Amino acid sequence: MTYQQLINYGKKLAKSHNVEVEGIKILVLEMSGLNGAEFLLNIHSEVDRALEEIIKKGIEEYVSGKPVQHIVGYTYFYGYKMVVNGDVLIPRPETEELIGYVLAYYDEMFDGKKVDVVDVGTGSGNIAVALACEESNMKVWASDISFEALETAKVNAENNQANVTFYQGNMLDPFIEKGLKFDILVSNPPYIPDDEYVEPLVLDNEPNIALFGGNKGMKFYQEIFENAKKVLKDKAIMAFEHSHKTRLEMLELANTYFPEANSFVIKDLNGKDRFLIVLIGEEND
Ligand SMILES: C[S@@+](CC[C@H](N)C(=O)[O-])C[C@H]1O[C@@H](n2cnc3c(N)ncnc32)[C@H](O)[C@@H]1O
Repeated sequence: MTYQQLINYGKKLAKSHNVEVEGIKILVLEMSGLNGAEFLLNIHSEVDRALEEIIKKGIEEYVSGKPVQHIVGYTYFYGYKMVVNGDVLIPRPETEELIGYVLAYYDEMFDGKKVDVVDVGTGSGNIAVALACEESNMKVWASDISFEALETAKVNAENNQANVTFYQGNMLDPFIEKGLKFDILVSNPPYIPDDEYVEPLVLDNEPNIALFGGNKGMKFYQEIFENAKKVLKDKAIMAFEHSHKTRLEMLELANTYFPEANSFVIKDLNGKDRFLIVLIGEEND
């Protein structure tokens, strides 16, 4: 079979299993071991028999409900290759937008200065690693409650040569215990309401501990805001990803705990309310 014939075979199988057909092309491309340009040039080339069998096995896994990223073992986040597995949330495209906002508000508030940054609930380490790689003035710490997630995050930091200090523990607790203070706090905590429907592809493959955020999905934001002053410097940025349904709740939290701050919600590229930014002590220099 050629790569094109493998894609057609996979798409047919995906359709008959009611699975997203678009995933097939990405799967075949990633499993080919070729880069995008090489793949297009060779799309009508005969595939080695052993590789053909491996790709067909990957297609079978995909149509029976395994995410492409778990089959190939990695994904890309903000251009960085991240190992992913059943212990971590697969990084989402919206979270790449959060990185862009953190970098932009860093420029606005701290322009070129050295800053201490914390990523709470780091999962695969995607946020911490991307920030450390993108901005050499950021010294980055990260926490997660899951020992297994942190093992993967450490691999991602090492593979991308990112200098990140990881601590296992509940939310901000490890940093409060160590008396650490930060200029920037970023978090994409679990935010799906406990009673919300989640599609099987996500529910069956990603850790529940990375998904559910209590009643209305607000539990972890509440906890972070209650303790934020213990870990923030006087001038600081907080940046969160949140459910598109909780714009008002997020703004209320910010206005309750940081009434003097400049707090606002930004929409994601799909036009949904997604990021809360809190700029604290903007005018202090
Ligand atoms: C939605 S995932 C986000 C992962 C990653 N930061 C990202 O953006 O893709 C939330 C992460 O929070 C972690 N987590 C859940 N409960 C926690 C807690 N009490 N303290 C610290 N981390 C927690 C989960 O293990 C998971 O890795």
